[in-house]
Amino acid sequence: MAEQAVSLQIKRLDPSELAWANERYAEVDFLPSPATDFVAVVFVGDNPAALGRVTQLTATVGELGGMYVFPEFRGSGIAKQLVDYLVAECGLDTLFCLPFEKLHDLYAASGFLLHPPNDIVPEKVLSKHAWCNLHYPDRVLLMSRGSTGRPI
Ligand SMILES: CC(C)(COP(=O)(O)OP(=O)(O)OC[C@H]1O[C@@H](n2cnc3c(N)ncnc32)[C@H](O)[C@@H]1OP(=O)(O)O)[C@@H](O)C(=O)NCCC(=O)NCCS
Repeated sequence: MAEQAVSLQIKRLDPSELAWANERYAEVDFLPSPATDFVAVVFVGDNPAALGRVTQLTATVGELGGMYVFPEFRGSGIAKQLVDYLVAECGLDTLFCLPFEKLHDLYAASGFLLHPPNDIVPEKVLSKHAWCNLHYPDRVLLMSRGSTGRPI
């Protein structure tokens, strides 16, 4: 008999679960999400397997981040599906992200490019990028997708 396929669902986090999500983020030294973030949670069957989020910066611009696939669920494409879900569902035209350098190809596969050095970047993204590179031992990139190159 064929093995039953694992059912994977991605949903917007219920606001009552925000404290739980932030406890999970603390496990990987990620900043907590405010209630205004668009936070998504992946379920494998009934079990939460991953978190990701978009922080809205203006009416059309946001920062995608907080990608955390819980250790027992890694290596089966969940992060890639979660990035694509957030891009499709967040409703914003332009997204920045600040990934660890080793994950460049994961974000590039979803349309993110290294942000051109002289192009406009929101101050909040610039300061978070600088903070990340001081805070984490791994180098952190600045990538973006969508309508960049115009005033943000
Ligand atoms: C990084 C992380 C989100 C990846 O989750 P995942 O579900 O295992 O990733 P996927 O299976 O969707 O992998 C997608 C691609 O990224 C690559 N990738 C995943 N983890 C990687 C790593 N640590 N180093 C290099 N490449 C990696 C995979 O090889 C895969 O590439 P492929 O499609 O060419 O095979 C997960 O390991 C994690 O939560 N780590 C701790 C928190 C963290 O570092 N988050 C990222 C912040 S930028």
